[in-house]
Amino acid sequence: MLTYSGEGRDISTKVGVKTLVQNAELSMRAKRIEGKLTMRWVKVILLSMTTVMAAHGAVTKAVFGTTPDGKTVDIYTLKSDLVEARIMTYGARIVSIKTADRNGKIADVVLGYSALDGYLADSSTYFGAVVGRYGNRIANGSFKIDGHEYHVPINNNGQSLHGGLLGFDKLVWQAHEVAGGVEMTLVSPDGDQGYPGKLTAHVRYSLLHGALRIDYSVSTDKTTVVNLTNHTYFNLAGDGAGTILGEELTLPADHYTPVTPVLIPTGELPSVEGTPFDFRKSTVIGARIHDSNEQLKIAGGYDHNWVLRGNNGEPKTAARVYDPQSGRVLTVTTTEPGVQFYSGNFLDGTKFGKAGESHVKNSGLCLETQHFPDSPNHPSFPTTLLKPGETRHSTTTFTFSTHAK
Ligand code: GLA
Repeated sequence: MLTYSGEGRDISTKVGVKTLVQNAELSMRAKRIEGKLTMRWVKVILLSMTTVMAAHGAVTKAVFGTTPDGKTVDIYTLKSDLVEARIMTYGARIVSIKTADRNGKIADVVLGYSALDGYLADSSTYFGAVVGRYGNRIANGSFKIDGHEYHVPINNNGQSLHGGLLGFDKLVWQAHEVAGGVEMTLVSPDGDQGYPGKLTAHVRYSLLHGALRIDYSVSTDKTTVVNLTNHTYFNLAGDGAGTILGEELTLPADHYTPVTPVLIPTGELPSVEGTPFDFRKSTVIGARIHDSNEQLKIAGGYDHNWVLRGNNGEPKTAARVYDPQSGRVLTVTTTEPGVQFYSGNFLDGTKFGKAGESHVKNSGLCLETQHFPDSPNHPSFPTTLLKPGETRHSTTTFTFSTHAK
C-alpha cells in the first residue's frame, strides 16, 4: 500500500502564518500526488484482478436456504469473462448458467427453480444434481459383488434409479472454495441406501472462460459400485423459452444401449446406422423423435446411453448441441465411456421454474456422462466396481460458445 507520512509534521505553535500557508499548500499538493498515485495503484490492482477473474473465474458464496432438518444450503457463484454459473450445496447442483447468445443477449440456459423450496419439493427431475451412488438404473435394485447379493431401493418401475430414495441429489454436501471454483465433498456411510462401503466423493466445479469443468473423484473402504454424473437440463434458448426439439445435436457414437420396457439395457450394443439414434452428423432433435421406433416408444423419446468412441478414461467429445435461434453452442467432453441423452420426456408441465414458467415435456435435455446403466449386472460393460485403495477420477466439461448464422 502507498502511504504518505509528511502531512502536518512540521506544524507547531511557534511557526509563522507564512510557514503555515506553505505547509498547507505543501500538504494539499502532497494529497493530490497521493490521490493520483493511489488511483494509479487502484487501477493496476483492479486490472490485474479482472485479468485473474477472467482467466479463472471469481467465486462468491451466499446462503441459498435451509433444509427442513435445519441444514444451511450455500450457493457459490462462479464468474468468468463468458459465463456465470451458480452451484449449491444441496445435491451439489448447478442452479443456473448464464451466457450470451450470438448477439450478446444473456440467458440462463439450465432448468431449475429460483428458491431452495422448489428443489426440496421436487423428487423426480434431479434438476442440476450430482446423482449417485449410481446414476441411472440398476435392474430390480439388486447386484452381486464377490458372490454377495446387495439390494438397493426400488424407486422406479420395479428398478433402482439414481441411487435410491435418498440419493446424493438430496443431500447437503460440504463445500470449500478452490481456484476459480468450488469443491463439494460427501461421505456416504457404509450401507447407505444398501450400497456397501463408506464412499467419499469429491466433485469439483471450476470455470475457465466458457468452460465449466466437473472433476469427480471417489474412493471407498469396501468393494462397491459407483457411477456419478450430473443431471443438468440444458435449453440453449433459455429456461422457459420453449422446447429443445429445434436444437441440433451431434453425438459421436456408433453404438448405443437399447433398453427393455422398464428402461434397463438389454446388453446389446447395436449400431446406430439407419436409426433415429444416429446423431453422428448434427441433426435436429425433433426430426425423428416421433418416428415409429420401438425404442423411442418405450422411452417416450430419447432416454438412452450412447457408447462413446475412444477409451474409458480418455478425454473425448461426448456431445455438441447447437441452437440455431440463439446461436449458442454447448460442447460436452468427458473421460466417461458413455452419455445418457435424455430429451426431458418425463417433464410434464406441473413444475414451475425460475420465472414461473412451467417445465413442459422436452423443455430441457440432459447429457449425463456416465458408465452404462445397470453395469453391475452386465459384466461385458466397462466396470463400475471400485475397490479399497483405488481412487477413481473422471472429468466432464460443458463448454459454451456461439456460432454465427
Ligand atoms: C434419467 C433417466 C430418465 C429419468 C430422468 C429423471 O435421465 O434415464 O429415465 O428418470 O433421469 O427424470
